[in-house]
Amino acid sequence: MLSKLNFVKLGVRHVFVRRHCISTTRRNLFPPAVSLQKFSSSALPHQWIFAQRMYYHNVEANATGAQRQRHLIERQSRTQYQPLKSAFGVPLSRRAAMPSMITHQRHLRPLQSPLIGPRRTVDAPVPAGSTPTSNCVDIIRTYATDLVREKLIEPFGRPVNKTKRKVTVVGCGQVGMAVVMSILAQNISNEVCIIDANEKLVNGESKDVQQGSLYLRDAVIIGNTDYKASEDSAVCIITAGERQKKGQTRLDLLKTNVKIITQIVPPLVKYSPETILIIVSNPCDILAHVAWKTSQLPLERVFASGTHLDTARFRYFIAKRLGVSASSVQGYVIGEHGDSSVPVWSAVSVGGIRFRDLSKCAGAEGDTDQWHEVHNQVVKAAYEVIAGKGYTNWAIGLTVASLVSMILDNKNEVATVSTLAREREGIENDVFLSLPVVLGANGVTSFIKLQLSGLEQQRLCKSAETLNKAMQSLKGKK
Ligand SMILES: NC(=O)c1ccc[n+]([C@@H]2O[C@H](COP(=O)([O-])OP(=O)(O)OC[C@H]3O[C@@H](n4cnc5c(N)ncnc54)[C@H](O)[C@@H]3O)[C@@H](O)[C@H]2O)c1
Repeated sequence: MLSKLNFVKLGVRHVFVRRHCISTTRRNLFPPAVSLQKFSSSALPHQWIFAQRMYYHNVEANATGAQRQRHLIERQSRTQYQPLKSAFGVPLSRRAAMPSMITHQRHLRPLQSPLIGPRRTVDAPVPAGSTPTSNCVDIIRTYATDLVREKLIEPFGRPVNKTKRKVTVVGCGQVGMAVVMSILAQNISNEVCIIDANEKLVNGESKDVQQGSLYLRDAVIIGNTDYKASEDSAVCIITAGERQKKGQTRLDLLKTNVKIITQIVPPLVKYSPETILIIVSNPCDILAHVAWKTSQLPLERVFASGTHLDTARFRYFIAKRLGVSASSVQGYVIGEHGDSSVPVWSAVSVGGIRFRDLSKCAGAEGDTDQWHEVHNQVVKAAYEVIAGKGYTNWAIGLTVASLVSMILDNKNEVATVSTLAREREGIENDVFLSLPVVLGANGVTSFIKLQLSGLEQQRLCKSAETLNKAMQSLKGKK
């Protein structure tokens, strides 16, 4: 009786022999040893391509008996295997991916057909609508891929697949994708994971960006609904949730988005316990507070983007009015990321010259220059953009990317982000709101002690009160 192994060996030999038998006479001398099977799979022409490549490029494959065994053992010891998937996306076992698989009993049957079937031309048309029915395509493909790899690349050190700059963005809506693109286009990180509950959307968005990775310094972009994909992220950014509709305030989103945050944070932290968590979804101050409590991460590693965006807008509007660049303007907006935010006019300076040294009431009551109008512009900015296009995304995307860069590059830059403010600047409430802090690799490393005017101090406490009320309403609902 012909054993399975010998059956395939015969088949393999037959294929090799047929490659040599160019003349009809010689072909007649070597008739097929086993009856030929009909092909039923669309993948078979490809199988033939790979089977032929295997023959052409792998001279050792001609070796038989002990010589072949020796060769295979030697090859196994120096080949590094990648996790592979079958035609249906099922991961192949390590063994299935070994070059010696031709002699592996489990794979004999699927291999019989391509190896001993009738000769096909390389360009044979693939029947439309048909799908591969076995994993032998992958097995042969693996083999062929390894051949090219072995001939092209000589392993030396142990490769590392992970970087320490992985960033995960949860929510691939308008804001999430603006954050992703701002990070990638500025080369802040070249490993980005996108997570969203909407599978179709996350697949579409991640593939779209992946296909342009050539122009993003070969960045690795993955998209998934499973939080496992976010494993070992240095920074996780949450942008998932409902957004403001025309006329809605940020606080109107509270109830829905708190629910979403409490679903997202535990799996994120489970897979990245060392991460720094940045909350962008609104109302970001309250959601950051909820995220901190849910995550049980150290306080310095959980904050919201807060008024970092308002500060950027504030500096931009001042710069526009003076005809200088926004980077030449120093100044902060603190407090709630929302309608009760506070501009710190006492600290505004351009080119090192303080406004208050030039005009005692700049930005305050009695200011003939009407600088306070700038803050009104800041507060209205999001509403105006939303009235125009339905959402805001680019400015917040760039703002969040700048925070990520401060963390990954340990810049120790000053930024206004939202963190626990109790007992700072006269605030008594247990609230998260924005104050100028120093941001580095471990998150918030220190606070900048402000020299607020009496009015600024009052307004900040009022902002804290607004947030505290919203927080209390949340507790009441539980
Ligand atoms: N902090 C800021 O300065 C700032 C600025 C702009 C927008 N935002 C906020 O960002 C958030 C997102 O805005 P957008 O315009 O991108 O909204 P969007 O509707 O375009 O996207 C939201 C995404 O979140 C996903 N999502 C919803 N629930 C989820 C869950 N449980 N798990 C995973 N994904 C989930 C949705 O599938 C969707 O893709 C809103 O809350 C908005 O108010 C904040």
